[in-house]
Amino acid sequence: MGMNDSETVALIGGGHAFGKCHGACSLGAGDGPDVDAESPWPGNCGAGIAQNTFTSGFEGEWTHTPLLWSNEYFEQLLADNYTLWVSPGGSPQWENDRNGLMMLTTDLALVADDEYTAIVTEFAEDISALNTAFAAAWKKLVENGDATQWADNMFCVDADDVKRTHIECGQTLTGSVGNSPDSVLVAFENDQVQSVTFSNCDSSFDTTMFLADSNGLDIQQQSTNHCDGDDCCDPEFCRTSYRETFTMSDLEVGSYTLRLTPYAQGGDWSLTVQCQVDHNGRGRGQIASALLDTDSWTVVLTNKDLMILVLVAVNLVTIVATYCLCSRSRRHSKGKYMKVVAKGTNLEAVALKQ
Ligand code: HEM
Repeated sequence: MGMNDSETVALIGGGHAFGKCHGACSLGAGDGPDVDAESPWPGNCGAGIAQNTFTSGFEGEWTHTPLLWSNEYFEQLLADNYTLWVSPGGSPQWENDRNGLMMLTTDLALVADDEYTAIVTEFAEDISALNTAFAAAWKKLVENGDATQWADNMFCVDADDVKRTHIECGQTLTGSVGNSPDSVLVAFENDQVQSVTFSNCDSSFDTTMFLADSNGLDIQQQSTNHCDGDDCCDPEFCRTSYRETFTMSDLEVGSYTLRLTPYAQGGDWSLTVQCQVDHNGRGRGQIASALLDTDSWTVVLTNKDLMILVLVAVNLVTIVATYCLCSRSRRHSKGKYMKVVAKGTNLEAVALKQ
């Protein structure tokens, strides 16, 4: 592709400032397009999306801020030691001994060569040198100096058009979204420590929803119902299945981003944010009743709830049946028991006589 050493190092390290590898699923990627062309490599864990996404089979991110530009990748390459380990997906990769972040063998190769190491050092010590080198290399990578190489359906997007939507406490936003992987990003600014409930209950489709902090790390798992992003139920607020509702208790002041993605088919989305300053949780009920239609009643049962109900029912039937059998046998056997006294005689003979 005609990249020189500096452009190569800038692109790899600048690229890996962002994002992550996906290989946390120990069951692998699943069948490829030769088996199911419509849904290749679906991932054999969970729904195969979000934290269960399986692509390269490596797992983890290179930097502490995978949604933000930085030169931390280069700083770590110079300063830290790495230990080889095998990801849950079965791929050999390197773990930073100091902070647990990851590198691929191809990343570490950049400091196994003197000329590349000199460039790594330059970018680690001076982020503006990286900014300039990456900008030029990226332009070369995507434009290649030849307009005829663009796809026929190329188009430009005005940065103003992709501004994020903002939501505030007590607000409900609505809109529509295409099929997965289309998604909606909604920014939320939390200006005081408070409990915040996020719900997409009134969306018309099966959703997934994640909350990222300002470092881009998903934190919805810290909610009161430990939401993993999919089918996060809180009957106090939402009684519709396959939607997401979660409450972050005492959410720190800061900037957060909600990522709402259809599980498969898109449709009309609705997002509500309710805030509660009272740390004792008082008032949650008021919020809940605001979100719920009190005229009708639907009980939402998870598979776990159903299992527990079935087990309780089986136990009850067993107890009642045992009680009936015991009392029946006691009634029928009245007088039939007899005392056998062995007086040095042959018990079998005594029994036979009786
Ligand atoms: C030696 C060259 C490179 C190798 C071997 C390499 C390898 C990889 C691998 C294995 C992944 C994980 C994919 C997954 O599991 O989903 C990855 C992710 C990524 N790479 Fe590279 N890469 C290289 C160069 C680059 C370059 C030049 C860029 C951009 C300028 C880049 C940007 C990214 C990004 C942004 C991700 C994260 C994707 C995500 O979050 O889903 N990489 N790379």
